[in-house]
Amino acid sequence: MKLAIGLLVLSLSVFSHTDYPKISQEELRNSENIFVTVGSDFISHSRESIFMGAIEVIHINEEKSLLKVKEAALPILSEFMHKEFKRCGGFIRHKNITKAIDMVESPSNPVSFAPMFNDYSLTEAPLVNNFMGQVNEANISNMIIKLSSYRNRYYKSKYGVESSEWIYERWKELAGTRTDIEVKKWQHRWPQPSVIMEIKGKSDEIIVIGGHADSTAGFMGGKYVKAPGADDNASGIATITEVIRVLMENNYRPEKTLMFMGYAAEEAGLLGSNEIASKFKEQGKDVVGVLQLDMTNLKGSDVDIVLITDYTNEQQNMFLGNLIDQYLPNLKWDTDKCGYACSDHASWTANGFAASTPFESKKRDMNSKIHTRHDTFKTLKNNSLHAVKFTKLSLAYLIELDR
Ligand code: BES
Ligand code: ZN
Repeated sequence: MKLAIGLLVLSLSVFSHTDYPKISQEELRNSENIFVTVGSDFISHSRESIFMGAIEVIHINEEKSLLKVKEAALPILSEFMHKEFKRCGGFIRHKNITKAIDMVESPSNPVSFAPMFNDYSLTEAPLVNNFMGQVNEANISNMIIKLSSYRNRYYKSKYGVESSEWIYERWKELAGTRTDIEVKKWQHRWPQPSVIMEIKGKSDEIIVIGGHADSTAGFMGGKYVKAPGADDNASGIATITEVIRVLMENNYRPEKTLMFMGYAAEEAGLLGSNEIASKFKEQGKDVVGVLQLDMTNLKGSDVDIVLITDYTNEQQNMFLGNLIDQYLPNLKWDTDKCGYACSDHASWTANGFAASTPFESKKRDMNSKIHTRHDTFKTLKNNSLHAVKFTKLSLAYLIELDR
């Protein structure tokens, strides 16, 4: 170890390479080791003359590699990724080695190491904190109660149609008379429509926040079965609706175009979101980020927010982790896998867009009453305190991406 530090100091002259940021000996000596993942193309790239000693490769697989890096050398790494790979950022920083290995070994997806669309730095603290302070738990509860009062929200039943029409009316009511906002029903080849609220920004770049509006009672499901779907997924729709309410209350005028979506027929195999995401791809729409909210109101684990790592975008996931660390520092978060394409984020990922799903618990601790007539507000202990955290995170996500 001492030898390594010695070597590092010896090679210091290398760090003052004219094109790269400079670091002092002092900084480097006091600098801690951190873990970052990069695309494995980094490994074969000639870099010795720039990094000698400050970077150690500790794990490689076909796609991704894990590096141990002196924290002080991060600006150099950042510059290197930008110059050599045209990536803005281009690496993911991890809190600890366990999380880092979990990320490296999670199933790959097509966009995980694509050049980043966005600058994921955090610069909007005053507005984010202001908006987060306005989140109202009672509004979320009322929406969950309303949506779970339908017999079911099954995609082929009249209740499925009526409940989505109610969401449409509520979002229209929130939009008021603003001419930059459109609320639409997206008709599919089955009765239940998806609902989309679009707030036009100055640019064509799009941020999507969505969740499924339908519910099911599993194998026994059908048009007349009771499927209140309070957690799965009235909670997600209620979370989204409270985000919209805060934006409207503050007369928020976005830079990018914001789209809120209540997907039809997720429970039937991600049908609604698949149709929408593939149409967006076909039309070349510039979706820069997708947030999926599916089950936000039962705290089953000793962590508050769990980021699903499969079929999602790793860079955006780490951005969400940073948002929690910065804006909700009292919350604990962790990562977990679904193990399959468990919700609408997978539709977006499959079509090449960056999607993430902050989830209510570790997968094994999730609400066991979903897909039954017991998925009620009562099972959620008659409050929405857990969903409030997801509403705040969604606001932070939106405001920080929208610039
Ligand atoms: N909300 C559930 C499951 C879920 C678990 C979503 C963890 C997000 C994170 C979802 O509505 C669901 O039931 N999905 C189905 C699969 C889908 C393709 C029909 C499932 O898990 O069986
Ligand atoms: Zn669900």
